[in-house]
Amino acid sequence: MERQHIIFSNNLGEALAEAVGSDNSIFILTDQNTHQLCLPLLAGISCINGAHEIIIDAGDTAKTLDSCDHVWSQLGAQGATRRSLMINLGGGMVTDLGGFAASTFKRGISFINIPTTLLAMVDASVGGKTGVNFGGLKNEIGVFRNARCVIIDTNFLSTMDRDNLLSGYAEMLKHGLISNLPTWAALLNFDIEHPNLKELQRMVEESVEVKQRIVMEDPHEHGLRKALNLGHTLGHAIESLAMEQQRPMLHGKAVAFGLMGELYLSTVKRGFPADRMRQTATFIRTHYGQPSFTCDDYPRLLELMTHDKKNTGNGINFTMLSNIGSIDINQTATQAEIEEALDFIREA
Ligand SMILES: NC(=O)c1ccc[n+]([C@@H]2O[C@H](COP(=O)([O-])OP(=O)(O)OC[C@H]3O[C@@H](n4cnc5c(N)ncnc54)[C@H](O)[C@@H]3O)[C@@H](O)[C@H]2O)c1
Ligand SMILES: [Zn+2]
Repeated sequence: MERQHIIFSNNLGEALAEAVGSDNSIFILTDQNTHQLCLPLLAGISCINGAHEIIIDAGDTAKTLDSCDHVWSQLGAQGATRRSLMINLGGGMVTDLGGFAASTFKRGISFINIPTTLLAMVDASVGGKTGVNFGGLKNEIGVFRNARCVIIDTNFLSTMDRDNLLSGYAEMLKHGLISNLPTWAALLNFDIEHPNLKELQRMVEESVEVKQRIVMEDPHEHGLRKALNLGHTLGHAIESLAMEQQRPMLHGKAVAFGLMGELYLSTVKRGFPADRMRQTATFIRTHYGQPSFTCDDYPRLLELMTHDKKNTGNGINFTMLSNIGSIDINQTATQAEIEEALDFIREA
């Protein structure tokens, strides 16, 4: 997979002019929220004058083939050709679905992603994964395909709510932990409750670079890309349990708790420095609060982890760290150790 072309923008007009080039059959995909809150930031940009907008429902429940059907139908009805260009303006739901719809329409048209949530900026926009949910399974249908270009501009985040902002920030914390000490320290010192968007733009740039580097080395998840799974073995189980108990939790919040538990395991099993583990845990407790599971939920959480599709057959698969930036993939832990980690998430 080639390196993803990313423009870190402080001027959307210039960034779009560079990305769009001389294309003139342009479609902009939004969801109801980004239609209202994000599209206005593109007003007056001449290279997208006359673009057709396609709007889908917001939220992951709309990440379906039905929404794709709507996008494909609109493209067809408005005369899209193989030379048309789609601009996906939204969070990870819109960029994933839009990327898939564009990649399959007439065997594939070009698309540009403009991620408008922090999660989409630092995670969904890089790596070439597109897709939709299907048959009750997340991202079951999709293709690997890079956007022609990704434009990242944190000015879109001025309308983002606290929970969604924190959700994306958890993936940034993960990128900090798997990269280097200064990046990690800057993340813990940043005031995410009152974010300075200019400063955040620089941190996002660094964070995207971490993911980009790892994806380039291992595009199809054979080895190093598992580093990106840090926090996700526990995190996915916590997220799924919350869903089962009908109190859904944002992905990144579950990952934040997952990071707490997996750093604890890293300290116990790989010698990760205890002070750095505690500093990270304190940050997470302060901003993400208390998890909603109790010790009665441990058996179900363990069951969910056992059935995680990322396991390779040698028990539950974890990515651990022996220090910040020192990654140990394909680690396992005993049931007792995992339960201790869950205790730590609840009680630290
Ligand atoms: N492709 C990948 O590698 C990858 C990686 C991580 C996540 N994902 C996918 O991304 C999705 C989650 O991403 P997400 O959290 O961005 O979800 P999302 O797109 O559903 O956005 C969350 C909410 O924020 C709203 N929103 C978007 N931009 C806004 C803004 N600037 N201001 C106010 N509200 C705004 C959306 O309308 C939505 O209601 C999932 O579908 C997940 O599978 C994909
Ligand atoms: Zn994640």
